[in-house]
Amino acid sequence: VICRKFSHSASLNAIKTVTVVGGGLMGSGIAQATQAGQNVTIVDLNSEILEKAQKSIQNNLGRVARKLYKDDPLKMEEFVKEANSRIKVSTKIEDGVDADLIVEAIVELLEPKQKLFNRLDELAPEHTILASNTSSISINEIGSGIKRKDRFGGLHFFNPVPVMRLLEVIKSDRMSQETYNAMMEWGKSVGKTCITCKDTPGFVVNRLLGPYSAEAFRMFERGDASKEDIDIAMKLGAGYPMGPLELADYTGLDTNKFVLEVLYQKTKNQVFKPIPLLNKMVEEGKLGIKTGEGIYKYKK
Ligand code: NAI
Repeated sequence: VICRKFSHSASLNAIKTVTVVGGGLMGSGIAQATQAGQNVTIVDLNSEILEKAQKSIQNNLGRVARKLYKDDPLKMEEFVKEANSRIKVSTKIEDGVDADLIVEAIVELLEPKQKLFNRLDELAPEHTILASNTSSISINEIGSGIKRKDRFGGLHFFNPVPVMRLLEVIKSDRMSQETYNAMMEWGKSVGKTCITCKDTPGFVVNRLLGPYSAEAFRMFERGDASKEDIDIAMKLGAGYPMGPLELADYTGLDTNKFVLEVLYQKTKNQVFKPIPLLNKMVEEGKLGIKTGEGIYKYKK
């Protein structure tokens, strides 16, 4: 991601400065992907999270530098220093509003997101494009209170951001063609392959992963096949890099449950209906890798 070439010069809407609001798992990843070609500011309410984000980005950059310049420690150091100099952090939103693009990656709740966007709409310069990384909330609802509806949309990244190459660009109802073009071009410039989707529940990836993952849980719940065999089957028979149950442990069973609930609520499609086994595991705190146990057990 880091060593790609950048070509934003062609567009009048070229994005050169980016602010990421929310420096957690996704925000720090988005910031890392972005710093390769642009200046980036990470804003988070929590200064410890900002420190953690900086450390994790630095570690990743170190790894990239070692790969790029393995026989040249001086160049390695220069690379990390230069990349780091393009990343700023702050706990104040005011420090991040002067940007060409602001990507929101805060908690997955409608109200805090709406509040944040209303504030950003007030404070940011007129040309600034606002985007949300939400994976389950309607983009149009998040932006319902802002005035710049033509300069607003969704930029949905995938975890882990530096590794996953997809970016879903979500078209809000009143997004302008210029904003859409700028978002697509920016996505390319940070090394992603962009696809476009309307503001629909789950967009493309989660809408399709939902039924797949739900059916895998149900198969396991019924005892149709062992957990290992379900995973092996999809890896060797369908060519997936991870099986559905391994993947659920990786993303977190709580996140899986949440996504299925939202999809069920919004589509009423029975394929998303609650799964007793999944609910029970989440209640017991068996959330996957992050808690040491999910479908599988992990050494902490
Ligand atoms: P996280 O919990 O790791 O990070 C959220 C961060 O936002 C926290 O550090 C918190 O301190 C900060 N925050 C909360 N309210 C804030 C505010 N008003 N201003 C500034 N900072 C604030 O969460 P994660 O997993 O990074 O998710 C963030 C967003 O990305 C959510 O909308 C989520 O749905 C979306 N997303 C998550 C994916 C995942 O796999 N975790 C995948 C794709 C999207």
